[in-house]
Amino acid sequence: MASLTRELGIDLGTSFIVIAEGPEIVLQEPTTVAILLDEWKMIEWGQSAKDMFGRVPDDIEVVNPIQNGVIAEYEITENLLRYIVQKICGPMVLFRPKLMITVPCNITSVESRAVHEAGIGAGSREVYLIQQPLAAALGIDLPISPPSGNMVISLGGGTNQVAVMAMNSIISSGLDRTGGQKMDEEIINYIRKQYGVILSKTTAEVVKMRVGAAIKEEEILTLEVQGQDQISGLPRSVTISTEDLVEALQSSLEEIIKLVKRVLEATPPELVSDIMDRGVALCGGGTQLRGIDRYLTRELGIPAYLVDNPTTCTAEGAARALTMLPDLKRAIKQ
Ligand SMILES: Nc1ncnc2c1ncn2[C@@H]1O[C@H](COP(=O)(O)OP(=O)(O)O)[C@@H](O)[C@H]1O
Ligand SMILES: [Mg+2]
Repeated sequence: MASLTRELGIDLGTSFIVIAEGPEIVLQEPTTVAILLDEWKMIEWGQSAKDMFGRVPDDIEVVNPIQNGVIAEYEITENLLRYIVQKICGPMVLFRPKLMITVPCNITSVESRAVHEAGIGAGSREVYLIQQPLAAALGIDLPISPPSGNMVISLGGGTNQVAVMAMNSIISSGLDRTGGQKMDEEIINYIRKQYGVILSKTTAEVVKMRVGAAIKEEEILTLEVQGQDQISGLPRSVTISTEDLVEALQSSLEEIIKLVKRVLEATPPELVSDIMDRGVALCGGGTQLRGIDRYLTRELGIPAYLVDNPTTCTAEGAARALTMLPDLKRAIKQ
């Protein structure tokens, strides 16, 4: 008889929550919630809540309950998870689902315990936690069981993570509590200094996604956007080009290089030589920045390659991890 227990892999990201059931992606929505403040009640979530950002009356607040990869608003996170899990599984009186939830590598035990509790609070019977780069490695089918090294660089909204894996374990890893959102802030700063125009966070992210690049060799694109004149406070449009963005993003990109170098320094030389041969897999939404593979390859001297499923591999790998618990017993916490 097939098991009646549903099994979900949940990538609980700062920007996006992605859920896989087996090989299927069953949900991919911004990790954003709109709250009615008086009643502390969730009135919207996901893309509809994100679309409300900056446009709501005083009695409503748009909240991102996960900040820099960890739970910042516990109750809201638990409510959101419960709502989503019930939406996917239906009312679950008898058969409560098994969840594999991702957490950033190198967070504190207090931070990971909060995620575990939120999973239980969401109605799960069994909650497992897996470090995000390990889940990503499983989701992109890296051969992590043999005793040879594989490296993943994962660039998210509020975290950058790097890990070296072998024998189904993380050997060395690093976390920076910064990511795509910090890049958006750097863009706002740069455009303000350069053109005297203040962009909203939403506009800065759009500009990054549409014309951004890591290197000047990418095709130069431009986009005209609306901002606010720094002095008069009046609306003003500004045309932003790829060259502006390459400039604005340099310091964020250099931080990524430093993070990878720190992890390489802590990695045994045998595994480093495997990585030199195989290259580094790039995943997470941030790796969709044009030219980032060429930039990282050039700066690290190790071939860095893009994967087919950068924004869903973590959830897919988390779901897969549920089917290989005995193999992963050293890496997975319950
Ligand atoms: N084309 C793009 N260029 C640069 N950054 C991008 C692009 N597309 C998405 N991103 C960024 O990726 C981040 C989200 O990545 P994601 O892996 O979903 O994050 P998380 O796992 O932290 O929720 C956001 O900061 C978003 O701006
Ligand atoms: Mg993610």
